Amino acid sequence: MKKNYTLPGSKRLTPKETLEHLAKVASVEERQDFYGGGKLIADFENEMATLLGHEAAVFMPSGTMAQQIALKIYFDQNDSKPLGFHPLSHLEIHEQGGYEKLHSMSSILIGEPHRVITKPDLIKKDLSALLYELPQREIGGVLPTWSELREVLAHCKEQEIPVHLDGARLWECTSYYNRPLDDISSEFDSVYVSFYKTLNGLPGSILTGSSEFIKKSKVWLRRHGGNLFTQFPNIISARSAIQDTLPKVPEYCARAIEVAKVINSFEGICTYPEVPHTNMFHVLFKEAAEVINPRLKELDVKHGFYVFHPTSKNEYLDDNFQSKTEVSICDHALHFPDEELAKSLEILLSKQPHFAPLRSGPKAASKPSR
Ligand SMILES: Cc1ncc(COP(=O)(O)O)c(C=O)c1O
Repeated sequence: MKKNYTLPGSKRLTPKETLEHLAKVASVEERQDFYGGGKLIADFENEMATLLGHEAAVFMPSGTMAQQIALKIYFDQNDSKPLGFHPLSHLEIHEQGGYEKLHSMSSILIGEPHRVITKPDLIKKDLSALLYELPQREIGGVLPTWSELREVLAHCKEQEIPVHLDGARLWECTSYYNRPLDDISSEFDSVYVSFYKTLNGLPGSILTGSSEFIKKSKVWLRRHGGNLFTQFPNIISARSAIQDTLPKVPEYCARAIEVAKVINSFEGICTYPEVPHTNMFHVLFKEAAEVINPRLKELDVKHGFYVFHPTSKNEYLDDNFQSKTEVSICDHALHFPDEELAKSLEILLSKQPHFAPLRSGPKAASKPSR
């Protein structure tokens, strides 16, 4: 019998459902923002500055724009020294070299692809700014330990290197660090957060920092054509995501640990990290994507289990595993019982779970510690 269970993500509303939701949560008195001004946007920006422990905030259409703006300010302030970021940062692998092509900024890649940046990676690196990503999305949402992070930040402070946080998924870090958001984000000179990933809202981002920094960002936002005539649907959606979805994130993180246990009880498959640091992790398969992907499709179409997005070649983690996929645990997984998940994996892998003690994680893994 067809089951219809989905593991990753949450339900995406249709455009009509989205508009109905926005109409429900907007108040009758509210007026739209104009070119970044007005109560609607100002109130939300203030709320976000407080939430993230900074003096000021500005709403921007995308994270790509927000981060290039933040880094451009530091680059100009610091004699055009190179920027530093992780080899798998969004700037390096997903933005077509925007920082270089649009702003003629140069960069140095810091650390190694399969792990997070730690202090030794920064020795003798003279940078305009360091961009640090929490969690590091492309390697399974891993986090540095709190002390590793503090060491990086202390070193940069000593060297007068501003640190910008790529916090696209910062919401997911509080359980692991057992600290509120502002404790984490206020350690950084500036922070970008996103509303359309785990929080499941419309596109849009917030950049926070000192009042002086945000004043400069607003000038660059205008130069980028980013202070749109109005952004009220995106702001109302972001506000609603903060109210309704953000409180559920710790539950997503706890569920991710349970789901990973079920996955790790099978052979030929494992999660990275073994115990997820956030609600996101990678799933690694012994077999290649060409073998796994048709099976995933059949599992969905024939048996009604959408367990994983299609896999691709595993390039950076344990080389005993040929393919990988990213899993974000959100609403769907809360309604996918462990027994059904185990059944779906039995079909996928044509095996029974071995229920051996959990293996240690892939080779490149450093044991999660706090
Ligand atoms: C880690 C990270 N940084 C930055 C971005 C850019 O965000 P946006 O799509 O809003 O430009 C993304 C988007 O996926 C991301 O995953």
